[in-house]
Amino acid sequence: MLTQLLRMPLIQLSKSSWAQGRLTGWEWSRRAARRFVAGEQLADALEAISALNAKGINVTLDHLGENTSTLEEAAQAAAEVARALAVIHSAGLRANVSVKLSQLGLAVSEDVCRENLRVVLRAAQAAASFVRIDMEDSASTSATLRMVRWAHEQGFGEVGVVLQSYLYRTERDARELAAEGIGVRLCKGAYLEPLTVAFAKKAAVDANYDRVARLLMKAARAQGAHPGSADGVIPPLTALATHDPVRIANAQAAAAELGLPQAAVEFQMLYGIRRDLQEQLVGEGWPVRVYVPYGARWYPYFMRRLAERPANVWFFVSNYFQ
Ligand code: FDA
Repeated sequence: MLTQLLRMPLIQLSKSSWAQGRLTGWEWSRRAARRFVAGEQLADALEAISALNAKGINVTLDHLGENTSTLEEAAQAAAEVARALAVIHSAGLRANVSVKLSQLGLAVSEDVCRENLRVVLRAAQAAASFVRIDMEDSASTSATLRMVRWAHEQGFGEVGVVLQSYLYRTERDARELAAEGIGVRLCKGAYLEPLTVAFAKKAAVDANYDRVARLLMKAARAQGAHPGSADGVIPPLTALATHDPVRIANAQAAAAELGLPQAAVEFQMLYGIRRDLQEQLVGEGWPVRVYVPYGARWYPYFMRRLAERPANVWFFVSNYFQ
């Protein structure tokens, strides 16, 4: 109940440039953000990746930024991701990248975004890596799916996308993407969506998560259940992003029932959340990948993490008094 009450104002606030200007300027809020964000520089992120890799955890790296409104910013964002891919490759780290299309210029135009995505995909190809396209709010779902299909048509095979179990359309999208052999990361969804497109009740979002996870695993089984790459860079077709122990247990039971090997299902979690569960899953032999964000534009990402859990708001406020 408290989560629902706080969620709406916090997600609204995540879009406020006034609040962004304030919070990102204060030392104590930057300190609080460090719980969920590896740091502002690529070097900070590389340190976080190395520490996770040492624990047997793979990484997907996210250079923070979204809703870019100029050509220059969108091109710079693509160049930064390309740089990160090259550095990860030469350092031999077990990591790939995640990108948001609104950072690559989707709000400017699909053409601009496509050309910036091409820069990222070429860099990924040169680094024998993989690109996951994050899913943003429902206004961009169709454009995002168009873009991932375009990438596959262009011969960029190592690119996957995210689907959100709170959207009614997700079951259909998952069936279609699975039939096309496009890898999916399934999450619950982190944006504010109207009842016309998304389930409002947590129980319905959870039930849809289990249903879609099973559907994806069944399709992966039918396609030969490819595991991820041995170097920890390319994920298997099915990636299940959640910190919810019930969703994880249900997925594990479904995988066993379908005869899907552990190596063909990757569990994914966010940096700084449920580290205990991340390590437990690794200990049990499941592939685990942690989403590591870095960069100066941490504000909207951080606000979405606060919105997910009321206790995080108290954690945030307590930083002021430290
Ligand atoms: P749920 O919210 O039910 O939480 C289950 C448990 O996890 C909680 O009880 C708590 O213990 C822990 N937990 C969850 N969130 C927490 C937090 N912020 N702080 C502390 N504990 C927390 N969304 C999206 O719309 N598009 C995307 O592309 C992605 N990408 C993505 C990648 C990865 C790797 C992950 C793990 C998540 C995303 N998400 C996302 C976010 C996702 O949609 C969702 O908002 C969060 O993962 C929280 O949902 P859970 O599945 O963890 O369940």
